[in-house]
This record gives sequence, structure tokens and C-alpha cells, in this order.
Amino acid sequence: MHQIYPVAGPDLEVVPRASAGPLPDAVARLGHLYRNGAAANAVVQPGRGHLRANMVASADGAVTLGGRSGGLSGPADKMVFTVLRSLADLILVGAGTARAEHYRPVQRDEIWLQLRPAGAPLPPVAVVTGTLDLTGCERLLTVPPGPSQAIVITTGAAPADRKAALAGRARVIEAGEHAVDVTAAVIALADLGYPNILTEGGPTLIGQLTAAGLLDELCLTTSPLLAAGRAGRIVSGPPTAQPLSLGHALVDGDFLLCRYATGDRA
Ligand SMILES: NC(=O)c1ccc[n+]([C@@H]2O[C@H](COP(=O)([O-])OP(=O)(O)OC[C@H]3O[C@@H](n4cnc5c(N)ncnc54)[C@H](OP(=O)(O)O)[C@@H]3O)[C@@H](O)[C@H]2O)c1
Repeated sequence: MHQIYPVAGPDLEVVPRASAGPLPDAVARLGHLYRNGAAANAVVQPGRGHLRANMVASADGAVTLGGRSGGLSGPADKMVFTVLRSLADLILVGAGTARAEHYRPVQRDEIWLQLRPAGAPLPPVAVVTGTLDLTGCERLLTVPPGPSQAIVITTGAAPADRKAALAGRARVIEAGEHAVDVTAAVIALADLGYPNILTEGGPTLIGQLTAAGLLDELCLTTSPLLAAGRAGRIVSGPPTAQPLSLGHALVDGDFLLCRYATGDRA
């Protein structure tokens, strides 16, 4: 893998799985690249930190192959995925993604602890859901109380029995009565001590974050595939024309990995 924009960079060894040993030079470089720079022109509202999305899509824009994203990924995308998780305070997903991708808690051997501040807890997963249906991602509810325990972001109107069943298994935030108000949710997460949020989708949630002006940055891997079919795109919801400015671009074989900031180039 190597950087092609804004400047050409050296070859970076692709290390798709995190480990606890010495930090590979390529991972340290990616950590630096994704920590600094491209998001500088993002406008961040008071009361919250930074929110970036990480997604993968086929060359024709599909976000799934056979209902999941795994078939679109590749070694470099997996490496960036681990680096972005390592740099985040919290992973935010919609329940559709948590269910389809069988989300589970972040494990120590899945991220580069060396990229985190010393002693920082593992990033918790926060799930946005109106139904409180966490079928397929029940393992998220196995983390003991503490800063890495899952967070469930829901509504006042969510089923009371399901809400009660989460007691002690997740921290529950109510943000909105009939639908989650994503702005209130992101501010609540910052108040809880998670200002730097990484969202891993899906399209419905990213559509709402975009519409609310909350998305600061998009990391997008373009997979060298034409998928056709009816798979969705990385953002769904009402039409918009949100400009993006390219922060950097990396290439690994036929994969393209771009980091964009939202908003026009400053
Ligand atoms: N290619 C990629 O990088 C990538 C990344 C992520 C996901 N995906 C794929 O995308 C698909 C899922 O897409 P999706 O758009 O359905 O997923 P999503 O955005 O993850 O989830 C949608 C669900 O989130 C909850 N939700 C979102 N906003 C809400 C709000 N304001 N208030 C209350 N609940 C809210 C609802 O859950 P309830 O139904 O529980 O109320 C809703 O059904 C999966 O097939 C997944 O594999 C691909």
C-alpha cells in the first residue's frame, strides 16, 4: 500500500490484523496519517467532538455483497479498519449493521493499543435502535459495567420490556421520543466522555448524521468490483449534495482508500 495524494509516499507493509507486539512502522504511519490533517477544515459544533465514518463500497457503489460488507473488503481496508478503531473513543453503528454484521465488543487483540493513550479503555460499541431488537449481536451485551460496556441509544417510546432487559448489560441513552435525535445522541456521547466517534454505518444512520450536519469525515475504501443488484449506497435518506474535500488517497493493488473531510476545501 502507498499514498498517492497529496504526495506520493513509501510502500507501507499491509498488516491486516492487530497485535500487541512492537508497533509496525506502517501502522505507526497510518496512525499519524489518520490522526492528523485532513479533517482540519471540518466545522465542529459546540458540545461535541469529531465524527468520522468508515465504509467500503464496490466501484459501482454497492455497500453489500450477499447482504454483508465483508466480500468488499481487502487486506488494506482491514488494516485501516483496525487503525481507525484504535484511534476512536467509541464505535457507533445503526442496529441494522449490528444485526447484519453480528457485532461484538472490541477485543484487545483487534486494535492497536499502542495507538491509544496509555491506559485508555477499549472503545465501546454504541448501537442506535428504535426497536431494541439486538438479535444477532447479543455478544455486545456481555461487557461488564464500565467505560467499555455497550451503549444502546434509543427512544422514549421503545418497548419497555426490552429496555428493562438491558439493565446491567448496557448503558441506555434515550435521545428523542419516537426516533433517535442523532444530534442529541452525539452530544450525549461526548458528555459521557466519548468525543471522538467512529461510525461504521450503516447507510441509514450515516444518512441521518449527514442530514444533521454531524459528519466531519468520511473514510471510504473503493473495492475493485462491479456488484450491480440492489445493494444500497453508503448514505441513504433524503437527497443531499454534501461537498467533500479529499484529504489523502492510498492505493493497495486495485483498492483505493480515500479520506475526505466534509465541506469545501478551506
Ligand atoms: N459497506 C460497508 O462499509 C457497510 C457498513 C455498514 C453496514 N453495511 C451494510 O448495510 C446494511 C444495513 O444498512 P441499514 O441502513 O439498515 O443500517 P443501519 O443504519 O446500521 O441501521 C438502521 C437501523 O438503525 C436504527 N436507527 C437508525 N437511525 C435511527 C433513529 N434515528 N432512530 C431510531 N433508530 C434508528 C433502526 O434500528 P431498529 O430497526 O432496531 O429500530 C434502523 O432500522 C447491512 O447489510 C450491512 O452489512 C455496509
